[in-house]
Amino acid sequence: MYFSKTLNRFGDEIFAALNEKRFEREGKGLPCYNLSVGTPDFLTPPHVKQALIDAAQDQDNWKYSLRDMPELKQAVCDYYERRFGVAGITPDMVQSCNGTQEGMGHLAMCLADEGDTVILPTPCYPLFISAANICGAEPYYYPLCAENNFLLRVSDIPEEVARKARFIIVSFPSNPVGSTGTAEVYREVIEWAKKYDVIVIHDNAYSDIIFDGAVGGSFLQYPGAAEVGVEFFSLSKSFNVTGARISFLVGNPQIVGAFRKLRSHIDFGMFAAVQKAAIACLTGPLESVKDQCKMYEERRDALCGGFRAVGWDIPDSHGTMFVWAKIPEKYRSSMEFCLELIEKAGFICTPGSSFGPLGEGYVRMALVLPPEKMAEAVASVKASGMLD
Ligand SMILES: Cc1ncc(COP(=O)(O)O)c(C=O)c1O
Repeated sequence: MYFSKTLNRFGDEIFAALNEKRFEREGKGLPCYNLSVGTPDFLTPPHVKQALIDAAQDQDNWKYSLRDMPELKQAVCDYYERRFGVAGITPDMVQSCNGTQEGMGHLAMCLADEGDTVILPTPCYPLFISAANICGAEPYYYPLCAENNFLLRVSDIPEEVARKARFIIVSFPSNPVGSTGTAEVYREVIEWAKKYDVIVIHDNAYSDIIFDGAVGGSFLQYPGAAEVGVEFFSLSKSFNVTGARISFLVGNPQIVGAFRKLRSHIDFGMFAAVQKAAIACLTGPLESVKDQCKMYEERRDALCGGFRAVGWDIPDSHGTMFVWAKIPEKYRSSMEFCLELIEKAGFICTPGSSFGPLGEGYVRMALVLPPEKMAEAVASVKASGMLD
C-alpha cells in the first residue's frame, strides 16, 4: 500500500514504553500519580452543560450548521472586549474550529507550502511541529530556555531566516515551559513581523491559568497585532470543555478569511448545540474560571514547593497547567528518568524529549491532582530514593 509523503513525516508513538510500565503497576494494584496528560479534572460550568442539553432538544440544531451563528461570532467579539479589553474585533475577524488542534494544521496549510520555512519555539507543544509537517514546511526553532527566561527574543532569529519565513508560532503562557509573555515580547514580535512580512500565529490556550497575581491577556491587545497576525482562542481549558472541541481563530480578516475558505471544503461547521454551549461560556459568569485558576496555583505550590523541600530544585511555573523541571544530573535522558519514576514511585510525567529539540534533560508534569495528592506524589518520589 502507498501512504503519502505527508503521512510519513509523522513519527511513531513514543509513549508505548511508558504506558506499558504504568499498566504493569496499576495491574499490581500499586498507587499511581498520573501527571502526564493535560486533561483538566475540574467541572464544566452547569450553565454551559444546560445550554448544550437544551440545544440538543431542538431538531433544527441537528442539521448541518454550515457556518458560525452570527450570535456566536458576536459573543466572541464581545468577550474580547469584556475579558481582554480589546475593542474593534468584528465578526469577519472570527472563525470557529474544532479545537486549536484541528485549526492549527489547517491554518498552516493556508499559509505555507512544502519546503517553506516556518518558525517555532522549542521546546513546544507537539502540535506546532505537526502543523509544520502537515504543510511540509521546514521548521526553524527559536529557543525557550533558562538563559532567555523561557521567552522569545526575535533579535536572535537570523536575518536570512526572518526574510524567508512564512509564519512564526508564539504561545504564552507556554506549554510546556510555563513562562508568560511580556508586553515587550509581543511589541517586538509585531515590529519584527512587519519588517520581515512574517505572519504571527499566537496560541492563547492558557490566558486564564496564570499565577502570582498576573492577569492573562491576548496578543490582539497590542497595537498592530491584527495587521500581522491571528490568535487561536480555545475554550478548552478555561471552561473544561476539552471534549467539545471549541476554539476560534481571531484576528487579521484576510488570514481568517483564508482559513474559513479552506475549512469550508473540509468541514460543514461546528455542531449547532456545541455553538450554543460556546455562547454560554462566552456570555456567562467568569467566577468559576477565576476560582479554578487559584486551585491550579495551589497545586503548583504543592508540587513545586513540595519537591524543593525534599531537594529537587524545581522553579515555580508562572502559568499553564504544567510544570517544567530539569532532571537530576545522574540521569542520562528524560525517558530513562520517567521510566524509573513510574517503576519506583508510581509517578507518571512526560519526558521533555517529546517537546522538540531543546526538551531533552527536562520533564513536564501536569497540575491535574489536588494539593493533598500532589503532596503524596512528592512523598512517593522522595521515598523511592531517586532524588538522593
Ligand atoms: C498550547 C496548547 N495549544 C492548544 C491546545 C489544544 O487546544 P484545543 O483543545 O483547543 O485543541 C493545548 C492543549 O493541551 C495546548 O497546550
